[in-house]
Amino acid sequence: PVISALELGGVKIARDDVVRDDPTNNVPDTIFSKLGLQLHRRDQHPLGILKNTIYDYFDTNYSNKFDKFDELCPIVSVKQNFDDVLVPADHVSRSYNDTYYVDSQTVLRCHTSAHQAELLRKGHTHFLVTGDVYRRDSIDSTHYPVFHQMEGFRVFSPDEWEASGVDGTSFAAEDLKKCLEGLATHLFGAVEMRWVDTYFPFTNPSFELEIYFQEKWLEVLGCGVTEQEILKRNGKLNNVAWAFGLGLERLAMVLFDIPDIRLFWSNDERFTSQFSKGQLGIKFKTFSKYPPCYKDMSFWINESFTENNLCEVVRGIAGDLVEEVSLIDNFTNKKGMTSHCYRIAYRSMERSLTDEEINGLQMSVREQVQSKLNVVLR
Ligand code: PHE
Repeated sequence: PVISALELGGVKIARDDVVRDDPTNNVPDTIFSKLGLQLHRRDQHPLGILKNTIYDYFDTNYSNKFDKFDELCPIVSVKQNFDDVLVPADHVSRSYNDTYYVDSQTVLRCHTSAHQAELLRKGHTHFLVTGDVYRRDSIDSTHYPVFHQMEGFRVFSPDEWEASGVDGTSFAAEDLKKCLEGLATHLFGAVEMRWVDTYFPFTNPSFELEIYFQEKWLEVLGCGVTEQEILKRNGKLNNVAWAFGLGLERLAMVLFDIPDIRLFWSNDERFTSQFSKGQLGIKFKTFSKYPPCYKDMSFWINESFTENNLCEVVRGIAGDLVEEVSLIDNFTNKKGMTSHCYRIAYRSMERSLTDEEINGLQMSVREQVQSKLNVVLR
C-alpha cells in the first residue's frame, strides 16, 4: 500500500507529493521513507553494535547512572531544534536549504541536541540520546541526508567542583575531556588524540576531539561546557554541565571498514550477515566492486540555485544508485552568467547497472533539473 501520511509521536506528516502546494514542507519521499527505520536500535547492525559499545563504556564507568533514550521522535519543533539550544535566528542551519521542514514550525531534527532542554526539564542529570538526524547536504561516500548521532549530557552540582578548588566551568571541561578520551580509547584502543577549539551556540568553551587513525586526523565528536542560559531556563540555575554529540556513521565506517555510507541502509544479506551483536570492529569484506558510471551535466545557474537542491533532485530519481555529485567546472561569462558542470557518479552497491538504466536515470535528471530548479541546460 502507498503510505501517504505517517503519524509519529502525535505529529502527522504527509508525503511531499501530497502536499506539494505547501511551500513550508521540503521533505521528499526518499527521506520520508527513512522515518521510523531506527537502524540504531538493531543489535546486529553496525550502528546498533556501536551504540551498545558506547553504552557499555558509560554503564561501566558511571555505575549505570546515565539514562538512555533511543526512541525520541525525530520530528521536533523549531523551538526544540534551534531556540532551546540558543541557535541564533539568522544561523544558516535554520534555512530551508539546510534543514528539512515539515511545516514552518516543525522540522526533522538536525541534531540530537534538540532534546537537551526537555530532558533537563524532566529532571535528568546524566543522559545519552541516540537517534536518526536529518540534514540537507551534498552527495558523496561519507554524506547522507539521514544519519545517526549520540548526545551525552552530564550535570554537576556545586559540591562536586567546590571541593576541587577550580571554578565550575574548568571542572566540567576537565571532566568532559577525561570522559571522552576514555571513550575514544574504549572504541579505538590506544590512539593519538588532540583537542581543537571550536564554536557551538550551546556550549562555551567548545571543543572537537580528533584521533589519529589510519594515517589521518579524524574528527570524532563535538562537545563543550553547556551555556549557563540553557541550564537556567530549565531549572538548573546553580549547576554546570557538559555535553557532547557524536556521529555514529563516521565512527562505524572507520571501525568496521565500511567504504560507503549508503551501505548502512542496505538490506542485502551480503552486508547484513557480516555483523553480529556485541562484535565491534569486525572488518567488512566488500562484496561489490561494480564499476561507477560518470555522467556530466552543464547548465547556467540562477540566484536561487543551490547544490543541496540539485542533490535532492538527483537522489529523488536515482535513490541510492547515486554515489557522488561533484562540481567539476564553474565559470562566469562576460554577461555575468554563471555555468556549473556537475559530474554524477552512478554505482550500485549490490549489482551492475546497465547503460540503458543509467541513461534513463540521467535523462530524468536532466529533465527535472530543468523543470524543478529553473536552470538552463547547455
Ligand atoms: N549538536 C552538535 C552537532 O550536531 C554536536 C554537539 C553536541 C556539540 C553537544 C556540542 C555539544 O554538530
